[in-house]
Amino acid sequence: MSTLRLEDLKQYSDVLRTRQGEPLTVRFVESRDTEELQHYFRSLSTRSRYNRFFGAISELPKGLLNDFLEIGERERFTVVATKMVDGFETIVAEMRYALHAETATVEFGLSVDDRWQGQGIATALLKNLECRAAALGAEHLFGDTLRSNETMILLARKSGFAFVNHPDDWKLVRFDKEITIAPKDIPCASWRLAALSRQADRPSASA
Ligand SMILES: CC(C)(COP(=O)(O)OP(=O)(O)OC[C@H]1O[C@@H](n2cnc3c(N)ncnc32)[C@H](O)[C@@H]1OP(=O)(O)O)[C@@H](O)C(=O)NCCC(=O)NCCS
Repeated sequence: MSTLRLEDLKQYSDVLRTRQGEPLTVRFVESRDTEELQHYFRSLSTRSRYNRFFGAISELPKGLLNDFLEIGERERFTVVATKMVDGFETIVAEMRYALHAETATVEFGLSVDDRWQGQGIATALLKNLECRAAALGAEHLFGDTLRSNETMILLARKSGFAFVNHPDDWKLVRFDKEITIAPKDIPCASWRLAALSRQADRPSASA
């Protein structure tokens, strides 16, 4: 069970950098993002949406949209990466992850706005996700992608993931990375603190 303080989600915001050094804010999605999130998905290319959801959709169906907006529900989380564009906070990427506590794994999927692809945003998000997964006590991070999605496969390979066959779908490939970071060594300040407070909250073995 995670011990995130869900009533104060803002404390879990991080600032990442694109390859060109431009700042991006990564934060949990909020209900005020509903319209902007749908706009983000509608604006993705058909191919990017297909690769993200393994099927043809034009926007998030209502049920899925609600799931995306419910942070922490069944240990599932959505983050958005935003940038100021012409004075407006604009979503340029999203990532959804779920803690499977019984297997100590975190599963994820992500997308980057087509106009912002190739600038290191997904690479930075995956590094940030490793901090989040470690803070949740996960020992492995994994995702699935279509076998035809060469970009995601290259990204996963460059980010140190290993590949295995998907257990039930031959069209997919699974990539997996072991998380071996100790809480005190987590290289994202807010997640290091979250991990240390999670550790402190846990009853000691001798209690
Ligand atoms: C896959 C995806 C998330 C990568 O995002 P990104 O921000 O462009 O990735 P990065 O800029 O961090 O690139 C990382 C690596 O991916 C590969 N890559 C990125 N864009 C690529 C392209 N157009 N063609 C081939 N390889 C590419 C490269 O190996 C790159 O590393 P390099 O620049 O050092 O060579 C993005 O293409 C996307 O959103 N695709 C649609 C949704 C999707 O496929 N999601 C994955 C399934 S859940």
